[in-house]
Amino acid sequence: MDLQLVVHPEALLREKSDKITDIDGDIVRLADAMIEKMHAARGIGLAGVQIGRLQRLFVTHVEGDRPRVFINPSIIETSVELSEYDEGCLSIPAIYADVTRPQAVRVQAWNERGRPFNMDADGLLARVIQHELDHLNGVLFIDYLSEDARNGVMASYDPAVDPALVSRR
Ligand code: NI
Repeated sequence: MDLQLVVHPEALLREKSDKITDIDGDIVRLADAMIEKMHAARGIGLAGVQIGRLQRLFVTHVEGDRPRVFINPSIIETSVELSEYDEGCLSIPAIYADVTRPQAVRVQAWNERGRPFNMDADGLLARVIQHELDHLNGVLFIDYLSEDARNGVMASYDPAVDPALVSRR
């Protein structure tokens, strides 16, 4: 499966993804291909819409964790504590900005075997889960910035940059 990244400002990124009604072989193969694509692009999360599929799934792989698949995810609880992190996105290559989000979340989803699960995540995994879930609702991390901050970071934006070739600042 040859997946192409959808990059900002493509309108698809602003669409809301549809619920997956059947976790079948096609979804399992798609999730595998998304994990492969995420690794190839040196990302730590990737949502369906980012490879052109308006389906509610995303994959994550943060350091120290294993690759994870979240199908039809919802965040059912967030911590009061917030944290700030210099966030990026494979669909907005080479752009980073500080975004404040809850430090921890409890998420409910289905895995690639069609099993429902609950999990508590904090730190970087919690952040990635929130970022990827936003993608399923057409939200990008730059939406959290003030207009001035957004204009500032986006001034150097070049959608043709290959994210795998950019070193993080
Ligand atoms: Ni992203």
